[in-house]
Amino acid sequence: MSGPNAPTGNRFSLHKRVLQRLLQRQLLAAIWCAMPYTVAAQAAEIAVLGDGIAQPLAEPGDARRGRALLLSRDPANCVLCHGLNDPAVRFSGNLAPPLDGAGSRLTAAQLRLRVADSSRLNPDTIMPAYFKTEGLREVASSYRGKPVLTPQQVEDLVVYLSTLR
Ligand code: HEC
Repeated sequence: MSGPNAPTGNRFSLHKRVLQRLLQRQLLAAIWCAMPYTVAAQAAEIAVLGDGIAQPLAEPGDARRGRALLLSRDPANCVLCHGLNDPAVRFSGNLAPPLDGAGSRLTAAQLRLRVADSSRLNPDTIMPAYFKTEGLREVASSYRGKPVLTPQQVEDLVVYLSTLR
């Protein structure tokens, strides 16, 4: 037995309607939450607007600390992939564009998002997300659940990268 008057059919379509309405509501909620797109990280909410993060994550950064961090093998290891014309860099990778001139190509907001989470711009990027807590793949267990860098370290890098012109 089937057809519109079959009791099971009615019950089924009622369930379907309720389900559809629930899904619609969830979809609306998801769209609402995505404007502006927010990433829950540590206690703060980080607003990703366009291709940048306009709001600093911490106190103004320090370029000297940023350079030291960028040159460090752990935890940043930026020169594993990026070239950089700096006397302290003896070996660097070529898996990524050189960081020279990054400060003239990109604004502070754009640099902040690229350091925090490049996968927002390119889901297939090999660049690690240095500041996000969720969805990190293949991270060492000591990093699991917490960002690789602190908000202050991200700001230090942003200021240093801005000086690369
Ligand atoms: C495993 C390799 C890898 C590491 C490590 C890495 N990056 Fe990247 N990065 C990339 C690649 C590849 C790109 C190119 C963009 C893409 O993949 O979407 C990129 C892009 C960038 C960009 C944008 C450059 C431009 O001109 O558009 C910046 C800025 C940047 N990285 C900074 C850093 C900093 C700072 C670090 C260290 C904290 C770092 N990266 C570590 C691979 C890496």
